[in-house]
This record gives sequence, C-alpha cells and structure tokens, in this order.
Amino acid sequence: MSKKIRLGILGGGGDSLIGVLHRIASSMYDSYQLVGGVFNPIPEENIGFAEQIGIPTNRVYKDFDTMIEEELKLPEDQRMQVVSVLTPNFLHFPMAKKLIESGFNVICEKPMTTSFEEAQILKETLDKSDVLFAVTYTYTGYPMVRQMKEMIASGVIGKIQKVDVQYYQGWINPIIHDAEKRANTWRLDPEKGGISCCIGDIGTHGYDMIEYLTGLEVESILSDLNYMYSDNKMDIDGTVLLRFSEHVKGLLRTSQIATGEENNFTVSIYGEKGGLKWEQENPNFLYHLTEDQPVRVLKPGHAYNSEFSLDGTKLPPGHPEGIFDSMGNIYKGVAKAIRKEKYHPGEFPTMNDGFRGMNFIERVVESHQKGNVWIKL
Ligand SMILES: NC(=O)c1ccc[n+]([C@@H]2O[C@H](COP(=O)([O-])OP(=O)(O)OC[C@H]3O[C@@H](n4cnc5c(N)ncnc54)[C@H](O)[C@@H]3O)[C@@H](O)[C@H]2O)c1
Repeated sequence: MSKKIRLGILGGGGDSLIGVLHRIASSMYDSYQLVGGVFNPIPEENIGFAEQIGIPTNRVYKDFDTMIEEELKLPEDQRMQVVSVLTPNFLHFPMAKKLIESGFNVICEKPMTTSFEEAQILKETLDKSDVLFAVTYTYTGYPMVRQMKEMIASGVIGKIQKVDVQYYQGWINPIIHDAEKRANTWRLDPEKGGISCCIGDIGTHGYDMIEYLTGLEVESILSDLNYMYSDNKMDIDGTVLLRFSEHVKGLLRTSQIATGEENNFTVSIYGEKGGLKWEQENPNFLYHLTEDQPVRVLKPGHAYNSEFSLDGTKLPPGHPEGIFDSMGNIYKGVAKAIRKEKYHPGEFPTMNDGFRGMNFIERVVESHQKGNVWIKL
C-alpha cells in the first residue's frame, strides 16, 4: 500500500483561484496522494473536475456532510488523513470544526474564519482534540523568508526598531466602480467573506508575516480604511499603524485598488545594526542593508543560508523557485508533523496564527469604525 498521506480537498475546483496551488504544492515532495473531496457544489462540475484531473470519482462526494459520513465508514488505514479547506471564507469554520471533531487533520486557507468569535470556538475545539491544524499563510514558506527569520533571530540586524509591510493589489479597481460587479463579488459580500475584504484577504498576510519574521507580537493598532462607495460594505484599502512597544513601531499599508499593481507584497525590518528587505514578486532575493557596506543580496540554495532555508530549496542556486514551492514547503512541514517526524517550529503556520489573524482583522475594523482610535490586540 502507498505510504503517501491520503489528502482530501474541499473547494479548489476548476473554477477556483487557489486549488491548483494546493494540488501542485501537495504533490511536490511526493508526500501526499489526493484521494477525493468536494471540489464544487454543482454535481456535474464536481465530478467533471475530478475526471479532468484524473482522480477516481468514488470518493468525490456530493457535499461536505456526505464526505465526513462516508469517510468515517472506511477503515482508518484508507480514510483521508488530512483535508484542505479551500472554499470561500464563510465555509471554513463549519467545515474545519466538523473535521476536527471527526478526527481529521486540517489544512485551512486564510482568513481562518469570518469572525474572532468563530476563531475562539475553533481554537477550543482543537484544544480538545489531538489533530493537527495548519493555516496557509503561503508566503512564510519561501526560502528567503525563512532565511530572513533566522537572520533576525540570530541578531544580524540587532534590536528591531522599525517594521514596514506593504501589500498592494489592483484587481478590485475594475470591479469597485461598477455597481453590479461590486454586488456580485463574494469577497465584497460580508455573508461570504466576513467583516473585511482588504485586511482579511491580504492585510492578514502582512500581519502574520511581521510576527513570523520578528518573533514580536503587535500590541496595539490604529487603522484608517477605505470603502469607496456607500453601498460597498467591505474595505478595499487600508493603512494600519502598528505598535509593538513604546520604542518599536511600524506600518502596514494594504490596498486592492492600487491600480495596476499585481501582488506587490514587500516587507522591511530595520534594527539598530541593519535592515532586511524582501519582495514577493522577486522572492529569490533578500537584501541586507548596513550603514558601512554596500547592499548584500542573498539568494536561495547557497551554503551560506540557514539549514531551515536550505530545507525549502529543491534545486541548486540559480533555478528560480516561486509561490508553488513556497506552498510546497508548508505542505512538506505538515507531512513531517503528520508522520511524527522532526520539524522546524516555523515550517507551517498553525491555529495560533489563524487565531491571532482573526483578532487582528476585527480590531482593525473596530479601530476604523470608532473613529481611527488606538485599540489593544
Ligand atoms: N493563501 C493565499 O495566498 C490565498 C490566495 C488566494 C485565496 N486564498 C483563500 O482561499 C480561499 C478560496 O479562494 P479562491 O480565490 O480560490 O476562491 P474561488 O471563489 O476562486 O474558489 C472557491 C472554490 O470553492 C468551491 N466551493 C464553493 N462552495 C463550495 C462548497 N459548499 N463545497 C465545496 N466547494 C465549494 C467553488 O466551486 C470554487 O471551486 C479563500 O478563503 C481565500 O481567502 C488564499
């Protein structure tokens, strides 16, 4: 029998954005076998997609409840071991909760839930279980992000004093100015997306990234959001002041109406001895800034990188690796944990990241609604 981990997928059908990323990432280190799931609520699309990607249709279920019921009837050594939840946000909570309660390991897309209250319930549910829970803050899997984290931890830039994170996209611009389009986009519908679009969708990546890299926790925030039209209920742009402590401060700039921008996610961390900068659109370059030397550019796969960074590189230096590899590294970490092998604590984001992320989203919206005031996290 195959030693691969049996993977189920919810959502991520042929019509989705993120499905292909998870399928390729899961196949990258030959650790998983996709055995079934529910890819689409429309039956013909669901089965049609399974046939298209060449997986047997006997475990492609008509809906989520049927999947749980039928999988639990299978002997444990055939049952799905982990299920990835890739549906629109409002389905993450009910699906993840029932999966945990039924004993399945879970890989959940971000934002983890649609509210902090749901996140609290999910955390309590997980605490009572012995399953594993990962949240796919995809960008933490890049080798040079891992290198940056390790360099900060080992004191290369000294004590941190300034944090700057930007996540600019432009894809909502052609939608927001058209009343019909903005009414028919699930990310702009609070019923499906939760209380925030821009902060929930991409600001949360920025927030997770800075806590991941620095090991510091944001203590309080002040936000200014933009909704653009009075009939639009979700933020599409926002700036958040971040306070880690009295002398460590930062800024999160995020927008989905930065016209013409693609996925311009950048993070800069400055300490008393130097700075480190990384850009998602050029992920194989890590810039190390100091006062007395020219800028150093570090690249993946070289022996000068940390063991943790090198573990996320598959080919010799000079073979660019990207977003698929980054997600592949997260899946690799989850596979190690499921197999009870040794893994690095930062190899995949956990419930703690998802939980803190939901608190951040809610507090940012609260700060804006209360008139742009400081709120403790
Ligand atoms: N980690 C990242 O960087 C990243 C990037 C993009 C999206 N996401 C997240 O991934 C999730 C999905 O986003 P997307 O852009 O792929 O959405 P999407 O709208 O493109 O696709 C959603 C998929 O879910 C399916 N679906 C809907 N209802 C379902 C149900 N009841 N049962 C089974 N399948 C169902 C749809 O058919 C579709 O295939 C969101 O939570 C989003 O925030 C994360």
